Amino acid sequence: MSLSLVLAGIGLHWLISPLRLAKREDEWRSCWKCCGETDSALAKLNRLACVVALASLTVLFVTGFGGRLLFGEAIHGYSLMMHVGLAPVFVISAGVVLVAWGHRCRLNGDDRQGLADLLRLRGANPADTADLGWKLTFWLAMLLIVPVSLSMVLGMFQIFGTHGQESLLSIHQYTALVLTLVTLIHLHLLIRRYFK
Ligand code: HEM
Repeated sequence: MSLSLVLAGIGLHWLISPLRLAKREDEWRSCWKCCGETDSALAKLNRLACVVALASLTVLFVTGFGGRLLFGEAIHGYSLMMHVGLAPVFVISAGVVLVAWGHRCRLNGDDRQGLADLLRLRGANPADTADLGWKLTFWLAMLLIVPVSLSMVLGMFQIFGTHGQESLLSIHQYTALVLTLVTLIHLHLLIRRYFK
């Protein structure tokens, strides 16, 4: 339901304020370069890490939620092997994205002012909040990777007992869902920012 709501919200946003998507090939190429301005080996590594992180998140989502949503059964067999096998790939590539992208997503003075105004429920200047959404969703997604991974790593040991392991699995499921939704919103805002 939450996935449908977020997807519907994104669709509605595009309908209410459509943007020009038909760009020239060179503009698309420079959009791709938003993962790293130059063609250096480091920029290529950054772009590769973005693609790997997104692809592995997609597979983790499908293998994690697919069984329960489609067949009503818990993850097992090949899905579980693929899930657990891809988990370190996701964590490492997300770590590279964090290091490579972190400085672009820092909150500058305007962002902090916009955030403070919003928190105080004061009308914020639209210029101050223009970049707030995609930056905050980036940091939130990075933060959520910690409980998503830790819940399962800790759940593999008997430190917290059977009930604790069940709670850790629930934490894993819910934080993984929120991580997917926040990543979707981040990508949506990033694409809209570029095509504005
Ligand atoms: C990042 C490191 C991750 C690790 C180490 C990991 C590991 C695991 C393991 C071992 C299970 C099986 C738990 C059990 O049945 O007792 C599991 C379940 C699950 N994982 Fe992950 N996972 C990771 C990331 C993700 C991500 C990114 C998502 C989704 C976006 C996700 C979604 C799920 C879901 C929904 C389940 C529950 C499946 C079920 O109960 O049928 N996981 N995970």
